[in-house]
This record gives sequence, C-alpha cells and structure tokens, in this order.
Amino acid sequence: MKIGIVGLGFVGLSLSSVLASKGYDIIGIDIDEEKCKTISDGISPFFEPELENLLKNGLKKKLEISNDFSLIRNCDFIFVTVGTPQNTDGSINLSIIKKAVSIIGENLQRSKKKPIILVKSTVIPGTMKKNILPILEKKSNKKAGKDFGLISNPEFLQESTAIRDTKFPHVVVLGGYETEFMKKAKKLFIKLHPNVPIVITNHQTAEMIKYANNSFLATKISFINQLSNICQKIPGANVDDIAKTIGLDPRIGKLFLNAGPGYGGSCLPKDMKALINFANTTGVTPTLLNAVEDVNMKQLEQIISIIKQRLGNLTSKRVTILGIAFKPNTDDIRNSIAIELIKKLQKRKVIITIHDPKAIKNTKKFFGDKIKYANTIVDALSESQCVVIMTQWKQYEKLNNNQFKNMKKKFVIDCRRMLTNKQLDVDYFAIGLGKEN
Ligand code: UDX
Repeated sequence: MKIGIVGLGFVGLSLSSVLASKGYDIIGIDIDEEKCKTISDGISPFFEPELENLLKNGLKKKLEISNDFSLIRNCDFIFVTVGTPQNTDGSINLSIIKKAVSIIGENLQRSKKKPIILVKSTVIPGTMKKNILPILEKKSNKKAGKDFGLISNPEFLQESTAIRDTKFPHVVVLGGYETEFMKKAKKLFIKLHPNVPIVITNHQTAEMIKYANNSFLATKISFINQLSNICQKIPGANVDDIAKTIGLDPRIGKLFLNAGPGYGGSCLPKDMKALINFANTTGVTPTLLNAVEDVNMKQLEQIISIIKQRLGNLTSKRVTILGIAFKPNTDDIRNSIAIELIKKLQKRKVIITIHDPKAIKNTKKFFGDKIKYANTIVDALSESQCVVIMTQWKQYEKLNNNQFKNMKKKFVIDCRRMLTNKQLDVDYFAIGLGKEN
C-alpha cells in the first residue's frame, strides 16, 4: 500500500513523517522544489518539536519526497494537505487547493489504481461537492464513488504539538458517501488509531465540524479575555483562579481559558473570518462570531493604550517585545498578535526591540532593519522604557530584577501572568489581574 501526501506544510509534513516512521510507504509531494530538497535532506523548513527526528527516521525507511506529482499514480490513498489562505475580504482562497486537485485529477486519468483522496485542508461547507469533486471528475475523466473515493478528513492538530496530535488525534472525521471507499478508509484509520472515535458523516457536515471546532476555541479565548478585562477593574481579582475553577465544571472544561493578548496563528483568525464570511453569504448574521473577533482585536488596543497611559506620547519611546511567535515552541509568526502590536507601535514611531527564542529569523524577513533584534533578554531590555511579554515562552518565567536593571523605565506588561508570584522592583501590569488599591 502506497500513501501520497500532497502539500508539505505543518499538517502534510507531520503526517508524512509519522506514517513513514511507522513503516508505511509514503510519497510526500510539494510543488516547491527547494522545499522538497530541504526536506529530503532531513531538514524541516519550520521548527516543530520532534518533527525533524521523526522525518530523519522516516527518510531512512520508506519516505520519498518529490515535486513530481505523477508519483501519485501509484498511490492507494492520497491526502491533500495544502493551505487554504484568506482573501483580503476574509473569504477563503481556494486557488491553491483547486490547482492541487487539478493536477491530482490529471494524474488520476493515467492511473490504474482506484485511490481514495482524503482532503485534510480546511474548506468552507459545500466546497467538496461544488468545487473539489467536479474538478477531480473533469480532469480525470473518471467518476467519484466508482473509480476513486473522495473523503473530507478535517485535521485538528495544533502547531507545537503537531506530532503528538498526529499520532494521537482525539477524533477522526470522515465525510462523504457510504461507499466501499469509505469502508476502506475507515479500516485504515482503525489500524492507525485504534480506540479513537471515528465519526462518519457527509461532506458538508465534516467541513462544518472543522469550523465549529476552531470557532468554539476562539470563542472560549475571547470569553476569558473579556472576563480578564473585567477582572482588571476588580482590585485583587485573578482571572487564572476563575479559569481554573470554571474549568473544573465538566460542561466547561479547563482548556483554552488562558487569558492573553488575543488569539493568533495560521488557523483561528483565518477560520473565524472564513466562517463569518460564509455565514453572511447564507443570510445568517453571525452576531456571536463577530463579537468574538471584535473582542480579540480590542485586546491589542488595550495593550497599546496601557503603554500610552504610562509613557505618554510614544514617538521615539523604546519598547521591548518578548515573544513574537504566535505561541511558544514554534517559529511561526503568521497572524501573530505580537506582529500586529509591532505594526501598530511602528505607526506611532516607537523604537522597537524584540526577542524570541525561535522566531527571530522569520520576524527579520518581515520587518528587516525597521526594528532591532536582541539575542539575549538582557540586551533586549537594555535602555528600554517598557517591556511587553507577548508569548508564553518558558524562559520568560525566569525573568528577575537583575535582567530588568538596565531598563530606563521599568514598566512591565505581562500578557500571560508569568511573573505574578515574583518580588519585582518594577511597575508591573498583568492582563487579567485587578491591582490591589
Ligand atoms: C488551532 C487549533 O487549536 C487546531 O485544532 C487547528 O487544527 C488549527 O488551529 P494552532 O493555530 O496551532 O491550532 O494554535 P492554538 O494552540 O489553537 O492557539 C491559537 C492562538 O490562541 C494562539 O495565539 C494562542 O496563544 C491563543 N490561545 C490559545 C490563547 O490566547 N489562550 C488559550 O487558552 C489558548
């Protein structure tokens, strides 16, 4: 059995590496030749814990990486894991996935196999039936359900735990028609993930499940962020104690209640926008989803107004930002709130210095010499008038008076309450904590 994986981003490369290291015969395909070369050398194009080891291990077994799409002709299963970015109006951009399935379709025409195509890419409800299926049938001159199977198989992995999530998903969703292909796909997943619930449904429901999942997570975050703003007005109130306690109620659950500067990343903001856009096209006004986004945007405004309150006019003021990655243990800065913060501070002519354990290289690509980059936390803080801790990197927990001593003004904004239990000789503001009078 041969498995093809088209699109070697977080999802595709994690899946290729995990399956190959289990001994499956895998061909990982990407249109980007350079990227394919890097991966073939055992180097991951992005930082993801455990990934590179697993990739190297897979390459020693039966993992082949190529930009030659004709190799999918020998595949029994083809996973589509390409990106579905957003248009400027927030709607989903399907051009990459359309192109990928076109090429898959053309190759299917010349294939003797009856493969099962599983689409992991996030697509708005109706896309599989309205776009993907017709393209595949037209380009291959074959019939879905007869000559090949087509299944929606949304992915729920999180960056920074991509390998664990790929090995141990909490659920497998298979959307499509109840054909022999579906039975075969179910068998594969039972073998891959015994004891994991498998939900079989139609395409449009599977597509919607992914948006329901991500928009619910975003809603939890905005909910706790809104509560954290209220807590800030109650002297002595602590949002973490509240989150911990309500999280013990099984109807609520403890995860995704960590108040902070707002959600970012390559998925939640994009999927929220796509769902809002989609809801509007159906005639449903997504009042709650709009509010979730609104709260998210206001978190950042709040940080800026706190800086302004303390520093006054921001022109030529020195601000340090600790943590640029959209979350710890990744070098990914896509839609990171810290990047938005930098952009907004730049507009106000602030002199910005940043530090991040992994994301400096990616941030440099974005801002070039418009901001300063520090390799150590001490360097980042030297002469600074305000420091904002944006990303919950472990090393920031160790911040102490010694590291703050060279700041010109010791004003600390802690978006993740990492330093709450420390005796610090600084002017300290933490999101979600009400200052005692
Ligand atoms: C998300 C979904 O979790 C995942 O299921 C989906 O497949 C892809 O999108 P990811 O983008 O990797 O995963 O990051 P996630 O861990 O969900 O974090 C998203 C953002 O929310 C980050 O900016 C994070 O800092 C923020 N967040 C998360 C909070 O502010 N508080 C929380 O409690 C949790």
